[in-house]
Amino acid sequence: MEDQAEKLREIVRQKKQPEFTKTTSGASGGADTPASVPGQGGGREGSKARLITVTSGKGGVGKTNLSVNMALAYARLGKKVIVMDADLGLANVNVILNVIPKYNLYHVIRKQKTMKEIMVDTAYGISIVAGASGFSKIANLTEEERQNFIDELDSLSNADIIIIGTSAGVSSNVLDFIAAADDAVIVTTPEPTAITDAYGIIKIIATEYENFNMGLKLVVNRVKGAAEARKVADRMINIAGQFLNLKVDYLGFVFDDPVVSQAVLRQKPFTVIDPRCKASICVQHIVNRMEKSEPRENRGFGAMLKRLFGGQ
Ligand SMILES: Nc1ncnc2c1ncn2[C@@H]1O[C@H](COP(=O)(O)OP(=O)(O)OP(=O)(O)O)[C@@H](O)[C@H]1O
Ligand SMILES: [Mg+2]
Repeated sequence: MEDQAEKLREIVRQKKQPEFTKTTSGASGGADTPASVPGQGGGREGSKARLITVTSGKGGVGKTNLSVNMALAYARLGKKVIVMDADLGLANVNVILNVIPKYNLYHVIRKQKTMKEIMVDTAYGISIVAGASGFSKIANLTEEERQNFIDELDSLSNADIIIIGTSAGVSSNVLDFIAAADDAVIVTTPEPTAITDAYGIIKIIATEYENFNMGLKLVVNRVKGAAEARKVADRMINIAGQFLNLKVDYLGFVFDDPVVSQAVLRQKPFTVIDPRCKASICVQHIVNRMEKSEPRENRGFGAMLKRLFGGQ
């Protein structure tokens, strides 16, 4: 596990360019990119998907519920949304939506299926893509597998919004996707352990991707009120600014609301069970705020992944 993460960091280090945040640098499509797919080299301007990752330091803080319900809020705005569950093998999103995808990313990596074939439409107007244990091993794929995987991921870029719920903590796949994202949403609860772990992941991001203009956004989940959330957020934002020189934006909070666990038990998203409950209204606010903030730049999902992993 350790050396896998190290391998990935090495790839990221190699790929890190001074002009990393520029779309126009062409760094991903260098002339020595052997596996570039014809027609994809410079054509990513058309790729409009906004990629949002939802992650946390500690497990169980509400990532999956937030991802799914944010996705539904976006769908209600008329957006085409895909939720990708990078929570390896834990089948989180599937459980909340009560759908069982037959195939997952493992089949895509192995070239047994295309991304479109593994995508499952749900009754809620969003589509889901299930993760796989093979997913954590991007750094270990053969060049051909990796290129195929990246190209397949690229085929999702005609969606408006792609939300990737990652597993808690720092595994290589979590970092990959946070780095590739337009917006990286970090979820914490007011619990001291959750806050410490959230700070931990922010610190690793800051260390791994120096000079990387992360669109880091904080959501405080399971709070009793706005004041409690604001206190947690202010503390994190100040510490990140002071010690890591990293800008973190406060995106919002979600009330601790019994409807959430009831919804989980019923295997339905809480915004469907009760669109007017406190937690649902909070998610709506969060998505409204996301809509008001532009992604840090419209780089295109596939282009970003190529920059990170491709072209080797
Ligand atoms: N706002 C909330 N109010 C009340 N309960 C909540 C709230 N958010 C989450 N929970 C509870 O926490 C549980 C875990 O939430 P969730 O599965 O979304 O977390 P997670 O971060 O995805 O966990 P994991 O790290 O295991 O993937 C839910 O099943 C629910 O019972
Ligand atoms: Mg989860």
